[in-house]
Amino acid sequence: MKKDGFSGKLGFVLAAAGSAVGLGNIWRFPYLTAKYGGGIFLLTYVVLVLTFGYALLISENAIGRMTRRSPIGAFRKLCAGKHSFLGAVRWGGWINSIVPLIILPYYCVIGGWVTKYVAALLVNPVSAFHKDALATHAGKSMSASAAYFLNFISDPVGSTAFFLVFVIITALVIACGVEKGIERFNKIMMPLLILLCIGICVYCMFLPGAGAGFRYYLMPDVRKFSYMTVVAAMGQLFFSLSIAMGIMITYGAYMRRNEDLISGVNQVEIFDTAVAFLAGMMIIPAVVAFGGEKAAENAGVGLVFITMPQVFAGFAGGRIFGVMFFVLVLFAAATSAVSLMETNVQMVSQEMRISRFKAILCVLGEVIGIGVVTLMGYSLLSHVRPLGFIEKYRNFDILDTLDFLSNSVLMPVGAIFTTVLVVAVVGLEKFSHYIRSGRPWRREFLFQFCMCVVVIPCLLVVLLNATGVLK
Ligand code: PFF
Repeated sequence: MKKDGFSGKLGFVLAAAGSAVGLGNIWRFPYLTAKYGGGIFLLTYVVLVLTFGYALLISENAIGRMTRRSPIGAFRKLCAGKHSFLGAVRWGGWINSIVPLIILPYYCVIGGWVTKYVAALLVNPVSAFHKDALATHAGKSMSASAAYFLNFISDPVGSTAFFLVFVIITALVIACGVEKGIERFNKIMMPLLILLCIGICVYCMFLPGAGAGFRYYLMPDVRKFSYMTVVAAMGQLFFSLSIAMGIMITYGAYMRRNEDLISGVNQVEIFDTAVAFLAGMMIIPAVVAFGGEKAAENAGVGLVFITMPQVFAGFAGGRIFGVMFFVLVLFAAATSAVSLMETNVQMVSQEMRISRFKAILCVLGEVIGIGVVTLMGYSLLSHVRPLGFIEKYRNFDILDTLDFLSNSVLMPVGAIFTTVLVVAVVGLEKFSHYIRSGRPWRREFLFQFCMCVVVIPCLLVVLLNATGVLK
């Protein structure tokens, strides 16, 4: 993230897309889509991104550009002079800022898993992951690929080592401030990642049984729709577009006043969704081809780690592609983790009034502390179910719990504050006028409609669901 502002719209789009495209697209989106019914989840997600997600994305950027402040400062500035209810909206800045502190530790846990898979494919023959190979985990026979993953995450020492490698890489980038280099690198790595994904999609198209997988992914089956589809899609939208966590407010603050906010936001939205769509095209047909729809519905956090090596084991030279794939995913994850950590470091150093170096140490301590506990949730603390007292969350391990608390509780609350800020504190008309800045804005009506009618009810459904009122 640059402090001196983006050089132009391209600078903004690249930085925002670099932050937006990450594990959310390649790790989280495919497993949620598989789990929540395939096509119907995809459809719900796309509709939500184009309406709800768009309204919040553009709002956050505009808030940043209007105030030129960090989230806490932006909320404070816009609420200055307001009393009672409207004055209280300023706490929204805090909620938006706390979310990245919860996400970063478990983001680094998954980053560590990706790091491990780069190493695993470098040293193991890829045939070890063949879909027909069997192995055991905790005395149970299963596919070798699944057993490899489960054995790895349940090894406290090995998984912590790879987690630390990922955290250290991220912290070094932040400490050295080599973001310019990263941005340049980004311009090569992102297109490469997309090309590789397209290549893998084409290969997956020809897997025996992939047709059923494509149907599962692309044909919505309304019988599979439930409000959980909406809840999961909404959480994914926050995570993937990096909204309701202050980051887009910060990016908006770095944008020049005369830049075209509308088209910049459109590009980030399209790019992020396209990458997620591609990742789904690559993974879901393969899961269905190897294990049928049941395997897809049972998908969990391990999906990409279990299925992708099986795909690579299926063709000559698969190992090289496998290593390349995980290196590129690692890169996408690292750029996102850098922006998450940078947001945390800035917030801690500003609000605690400490130096940047001390803030880095504080954030590192927090990430390592919570991250290690999260990791142990698969080994030494595997019996811990933090939300076990609520029936529907009784199977949530520590990572699931952090993911749930941030995406399904705090982010909706943060987004409600943002909506109230836009609609009631600033005023919708004034806000739209600011975004328009004399340019044509095709989605203005949609934006206003979403902010007034759609966003808050949707968020309330998510929150009611989270509290367990809705079963
Ligand atoms: N949007 C990122 C992803 O999809 O992986 C995650 C993320 C990165 C969220 C950076 C927030 C952020 F500041």
